[in-house]
Amino acid sequence: MRLLNSILLLTASSFIGLSSGAGLESTVTRQQTKAALHSVTTDRYIFEFGGSNAETDSKELISMLENKFSDASLSVGRLFNHDLMKGVTINIGPKKEASSGSKSNGNSSIDTASEKDQEKLLNDIFKAVSDSGLVKKIYPVHPVQGPDTDVRIASADDIDVSNLIPHAQTQVDRVHKELKNTGKGITVGILDTGIDYNHPALGGGFGEGFKVRLGKDLVGDNFGYTSAVPEPDDDPLDSCGANTGSVGHGTHVAGIIAGKTAVCIYNYLKRHFYYTTCSHLTTNFTGVAPDVTLGMWRVFSCYGVSGDDIIMDAMLDAFDAGVDIISMSLGSFNAWPESTLAVVTERIIAKGTPVVVSAGNDGDLGAFSGSNPSVAKGAFSVASFDNNYNLLPIFEVDGSQESYAYADSLPKYGEFPSGVIVAGDKDIGGKDDACVSSAIPANVKGNLALVQRGTCSFDEKAIQLGEAGAAGVIIYNNEPDQEILAPSLVNARIPVVAVTYETGETLKALIQQGNAKLTFAGKEEVHKSFTGNTVSDFSSVGASYEMDMAPNIAGIGGNVLSTLPEQLGSWGMMSGTSMAAPYVAGSVALYLNQFKDDEEKTSDSTYILEQFQNYAYKARQVHGNSDVESPYLQGAGLVQVYDTLTQDIHVTPGGISFNDTINMEKTHKFTIKNNADYIVSYQLVNNVSVSIEPYVDTESYIFAEPQYYGTESAKIRFSKKNIKLSPGKSVEVSATVIPPSTDPALHIMYGGFIQLKSQQQKVKDITIPYVGIVGDQRELPVYADQTPHLTNSTNPLSDYIVWGPNDTYVYDRREPSTAPTFMIRLASPTRDIASPVYNSRGRKIGEAFVGLEYMARTASVHTGYTATWNGKYYPYLFNLRLPLPLPVLPGKYRIGLDALKWLGDIDNKDDREKWLSPVIKVK
Ligand SMILES: *[C@@H]1O[C@H](CO)[C@@H](O)[C@H](O)[C@H]1NC(C)=O
Ligand SMILES: *[C@@H]1O[C@H](CO)[C@@H](O)[C@H](O)[C@H]1NC(C)=O
Ligand SMILES: *[C@@H]1O[C@H](CO)[C@@H](O)[C@H](O)[C@H]1NC(C)=O
Ligand SMILES: *[C@@H]1O[C@H](CO)[C@@H](O)[C@H](O)[C@H]1NC(C)=O
Ligand SMILES: *[C@@H]1O[C@H](CO)[C@@H](O)[C@H](O)[C@H]1NC(C)=O
Ligand SMILES: *[C@@H]1O[C@H](CO)[C@@H](O)[C@H](O)[C@H]1NC(C)=O
Repeated sequence: MRLLNSILLLTASSFIGLSSGAGLESTVTRQQTKAALHSVTTDRYIFEFGGSNAETDSKELISMLENKFSDASLSVGRLFNHDLMKGVTINIGPKKEASSGSKSNGNSSIDTASEKDQEKLLNDIFKAVSDSGLVKKIYPVHPVQGPDTDVRIASADDIDVSNLIPHAQTQVDRVHKELKNTGKGITVGILDTGIDYNHPALGGGFGEGFKVRLGKDLVGDNFGYTSAVPEPDDDPLDSCGANTGSVGHGTHVAGIIAGKTAVCIYNYLKRHFYYTTCSHLTTNFTGVAPDVTLGMWRVFSCYGVSGDDIIMDAMLDAFDAGVDIISMSLGSFNAWPESTLAVVTERIIAKGTPVVVSAGNDGDLGAFSGSNPSVAKGAFSVASFDNNYNLLPIFEVDGSQESYAYADSLPKYGEFPSGVIVAGDKDIGGKDDACVSSAIPANVKGNLALVQRGTCSFDEKAIQLGEAGAAGVIIYNNEPDQEILAPSLVNARIPVVAVTYETGETLKALIQQGNAKLTFAGKEEVHKSFTGNTVSDFSSVGASYEMDMAPNIAGIGGNVLSTLPEQLGSWGMMSGTSMAAPYVAGSVALYLNQFKDDEEKTSDSTYILEQFQNYAYKARQVHGNSDVESPYLQGAGLVQVYDTLTQDIHVTPGGISFNDTINMEKTHKFTIKNNADYIVSYQLVNNVSVSIEPYVDTESYIFAEPQYYGTESAKIRFSKKNIKLSPGKSVEVSATVIPPSTDPALHIMYGGFIQLKSQQQKVKDITIPYVGIVGDQRELPVYADQTPHLTNSTNPLSDYIVWGPNDTYVYDRREPSTAPTFMIRLASPTRDIASPVYNSRGRKIGEAFVGLEYMARTASVHTGYTATWNGKYYPYLFNLRLPLPLPVLPGKYRIGLDALKWLGDIDNKDDREKWLSPVIKVK
């Protein structure tokens, strides 16, 4: 594929106005940046051609535009001349320093040029593109934020970490041992932050003959930081140092798929290992498919910035390089399957190449917290399960053999000191430990203070204790049998760690005996995890905004040991669906290797996904009882690779979405095919899961964070209850749902598993996850918190002034800071917000914004969108609405923001939630 990099046409000047007019910006926190990033409209667009040769189409389009008018500034980015995408990215804008016209003095901008000239220019462009018949669709280019995983360097040289490798949980160990399948001959293409291929566990080199054979760098180290344009080269090496904030994400991901340590020979005479890299930590490490070949397409710079045109380019290049699987641990908080990346993902899948994508790490935000492109139809959308074991730092108690695991706070304020432990509250364990300073004993000064979690925040406790002179704080949980939570701190300035309830009780007893000294020496140990084999609490919750089941499968992503770049410590622990996706990608590699010669089983990515779904392990819910976790969280469940590769009965589809009540197709059919050479028989049962109560209440419809659980369950009627199937035969069964009769206003998200209970020992049960919603999604409010707001502030976190419906807002265009801003918070995702501009006579003259499309629901209570109006409008002209706005004449205007309701009909006026601004007087 050929790239046309930054060929400048007409002019080299930059663009004005476009992104500010159409742009949505948001604020500071991680979630906020996320929410904002996913909807920001840049001034780059991908023009998809209808023809078969993008190169000639692109030339034709550009020279045509070039010839027709000289007042626009266009620059061409990437050319996509690919079977799966014919198009070109173009920046379009009016020239900043328009040199057209007779009276040019070099300073005349579009704002000051005569309006008539501009209109002509715009007309020309619209008409030219429209008349050319070349362009079929225009996609906006979104920035994509890099992974934000925390890493913990592993330094556990002297302990056996083999338990940490989770292959027993997924049957990967049996595939390696019993099937002697390690993925040899299969190639996995990864899109990530680059890789340290010099790591001994990743082959020690790059190119022909090495484990990492394919790939390139599409961005360079400094893209998005000191460099505004990508600096591509042919080397996907991650050479970012720790000071860039880079954590070696791509290297970790690669190790999960294909890491493999050298066999170390212990020299008994000299009593050391032959290779310095050999230690206990590294001798037993093996990835899911340790003998696959890898490709790394580096799409994130050291500063974690990319764009979906870059990612699309990498996907197409990986596809062309002939990889067997594409693995992407990336995404944006937005679960519309119509995004640019999702579209390309679907096209690659349609060609038979499985695309495995992390589902997202926003489980704490409740239902519908999935991301793009994992919601692409047919993609492996991967949820995370926790490892059964975790590598945790430990401290010791002087005079005792016992050691205790702890978790450091986030962020971490210095090394935790060793010292004497004392009670941090006069009534320790009395629910509000250290919440008021008067309850803190004087002897915390210079010592380590123990307090129980509860009533006030971790931060508040640590501040009070810090003021009382404590050297460090140990917070213990207030409930037994819980995983250790890393406390999040904002204002505390002394070291804080957390321990379990059980450890806390032990320490309390030690304090009562007097003068217990704790030693923190930076040691680590492997501990069994309370949350092993359940869905990780960070794992995003489905469904897609179109109600497709996503996530649909799961891998191990919570507490994962893998490789790091050598300069970052070589080995480390990370958690995220970023880790779960490569786990599944490696599993798919084992599958493809197993059935190398079986076209029928390998040519269709959907078939492969179904086979994994059929035999997945269903988790129970974390905190509790015996309830089965919802498929909205786990999809079909955790991959069971040995069963997937050895069981011969296949069910299609692999999952069912009954949609909401209005769009419900009550009866779905599924087909069971017996590829074995023996008769199988099953009994069909409905194994219900917990349901999800997504909202805090039925007034605001704000998503609960995390979602609440309920017990409401659906009934399923089967057309056959018992199945007997001869070799080679298949049977179709229909399943008719009777959703729970809950109040439709609650929008209960029910689910479960259709379970084919095998009547024979050697034949495994098969399950088909199903989900549905009781209620009509269209009835949900789109806007939240009485927004939209009209204001002159662009900072949603400030105390801003809101203009009421009868007020008049004055916008003086000579003072850009007086531009009106609309603050929008979305209770529900919306496919489209129309933004008609009405003149003083109430006539619609155009749209205030472009690109308010496929918008994610607001991520959390602190976030929102802002859209600042620059006094321009996009006229209603032709079918293609190019981002070329006209300034309004001075006068009074109102702007509508009419949001399409969730699952509403875009052509039905009644499916809009409308809002009309106060009068805006534009000067
Ligand atoms: C162009 O604008 C700049 C800054 O506003 C000003 O200093 C300069 O004199 C202007 N040039 C002309 C030719 O008007
Ligand atoms: C490697 O794992 C095996 C069991 O899986 C264990 O017996 C052995 O001690 C481990 N070796 C090292 C060096 O950790
Ligand atoms: C649910 O219904 C909506 C509206 O008709 C449709 O767009 C969507 O594709 C449906 N989803 C599924 C999974 O059937
Ligand atoms: C439902 O699934 C769970 C988890 O796999 C299993 O333990 C339980 O036996 C199943 N229930 C029925 C009725 O089959
Ligand atoms: C917004 O308007 C108010 C009232 O006119 C004014 O006091 C304030 O300074 C303005 N804020 C900004 C950010 O312009
Ligand atoms: C705006 O004016 C209308 C009509 O005069 C009045 O009914 C309404 O109460 C006013 N609203 C506010 C918020 O002042």
